[in-house]
Amino acid sequence: VKITDKEAAYITDIWSKLDKKVTTAHALERVFTVYPWTTRLFKSFNGHFKAGDSGVQGHAEKVVGALDTAVLHLHDIDAGYKKLSEKHQLIGVDTQNFKLLGQAFLVELAILFKEGFTPELHEAAYKFFLAVAGGLSSQYH
Ligand code: HEM
Repeated sequence: VKITDKEAAYITDIWSKLDKKVTTAHALERVFTVYPWTTRLFKSFNGHFKAGDSGVQGHAEKVVGALDTAVLHLHDIDAGYKKLSEKHQLIGVDTQNFKLLGQAFLVELAILFKEGFTPELHEAAYKFFLAVAGGLSSQYH
């Protein structure tokens, strides 16, 4: 996935306007609810998958950290995601799940920005999460 300069500008702008942890926690709740098999590896959450639950909050913070890195390196996300990709393979996360979380994020952005979530912003955000999913999958073998 190649992110253009214009898309990069949109992505940086959207990311700067978000309450990142709140939005990420909501995206996690959404992915866990809509695609319940994504909860499989989160035994430590003891069945609590709402945005406000402590397991989800703690995980949201980690995901935000990784997304911050991606936003800072939009033209080479893979490079910064080597370790994280290895880790996800080791844990046994199916790469399809990365795309599902991306879809959940897009819905959260639409809810937040409403009419402001133009097709152009949607396209840029879609490519961002596609690139993130690519980075997280890059070391799978
Ligand atoms: C752990 C990022 C998507 C499952 C982590 C960690 C980060 C992270 C930063 C902590 C790594 C560490 O402790 O060294 C991301 C990002 C994602 C993503 C940026 C996409 C935007 C997913 C998805 C799943 C998943 C979709 C599964 C449905 C896990 C699991 C752990 C983990 C099971 C270990 C949790 C634990 O026991 O602490 N992820 N992740 N990740 N991730 Fe992801």
